[in-house]
Amino acid sequence: MNGRVAIVTGGAQSIGYAIAERLAKDGVKIVLADINGEAGAKATVALSEGGAQAVCIQTDISDRASVDAMTADVLKRYGQIDILVNNAGITGGSAPLWEQTDENWDRVMAVNLTAVFYACRAVIGPMRERKSGAIVSVASIAGKEGNPTLLPYSVSKAGVICLTKALAKEVATEGIRVNCVAPAVIETPMLAQMSAETVNYMTVKIPMGRLGKPQEVAAVVRFLASDDASFVTGQCYDVSGGRATY
Ligand SMILES: NC(=O)c1ccc[n+]([C@@H]2O[C@H](COP(=O)([O-])OP(=O)(O)OC[C@H]3O[C@@H](n4cnc5c(N)ncnc54)[C@H](O)[C@@H]3O)[C@@H](O)[C@H]2O)c1
Repeated sequence: MNGRVAIVTGGAQSIGYAIAERLAKDGVKIVLADINGEAGAKATVALSEGGAQAVCIQTDISDRASVDAMTADVLKRYGQIDILVNNAGITGGSAPLWEQTDENWDRVMAVNLTAVFYACRAVIGPMRERKSGAIVSVASIAGKEGNPTLLPYSVSKAGVICLTKALAKEVATEGIRVNCVAPAVIETPMLAQMSAETVNYMTVKIPMGRLGKPQEVAAVVRFLASDDASFVTGQCYDVSGGRATY
């Protein structure tokens, strides 16, 4: 992993930051692609203080031009992209279908799913040229089970799981692996975007009876991004304390 270059979207805080920190421990050069430039700058300082080589490129991953500019910048700086972690995401709040607005549906799809399409498409050319690369997306158990009051979110994450499976097959013989993880409830500020009822619904379903930690997601993402997972592609790994039923 030493010297490889990783883009971590939404890497300024929480799960994305933990992933960046874990990859940096292996000597991976980190690019945080986050919409929050201030938090990204702080995260870059914290990673650098820990010995990492890290930069933040302020990016709105739901904006194709912003994603393309960010990847062009990474290629200019480093000449290669070895790892893409599609982590950034939003919940869209808690509401039943009959209270969902067009705007909320569109925004959740744009940030959680279309952005993954944009980012994968932007890096796949350079990865195919080098016949090497690993893409890991952060989906959600919601994308497998379908959580009530989180309908757009659940659908977007199901899309990420399916995008993973389809793209993995397209590049399976080209040295590029594509996988995703499906966390259950992880202790991050994202939980504040949902009602207490929604969070409770998801939490009581976790057989281990506790919330996950960002570092527990990061460890699985690191495995999937590394050569340890050299025969693993098109998979969705659960990080859910046993929640998934398939
Ligand atoms: N926390 C959980 O319980 C949980 C469970 C399952 C899956 N996930 C998934 O894990 C990922 C990270 O979640 P988290 O809990 O760390 O969230 P978080 O809200 O703590 O952090 C999300 C990060 O993404 C960034 N971001 C948001 N919109 C962006 C955009 N348009 N462009 C670029 N960056 C953007 C934010 O600035 C922030 O740094 C998300 O995809 C989420 O759906 C989280």
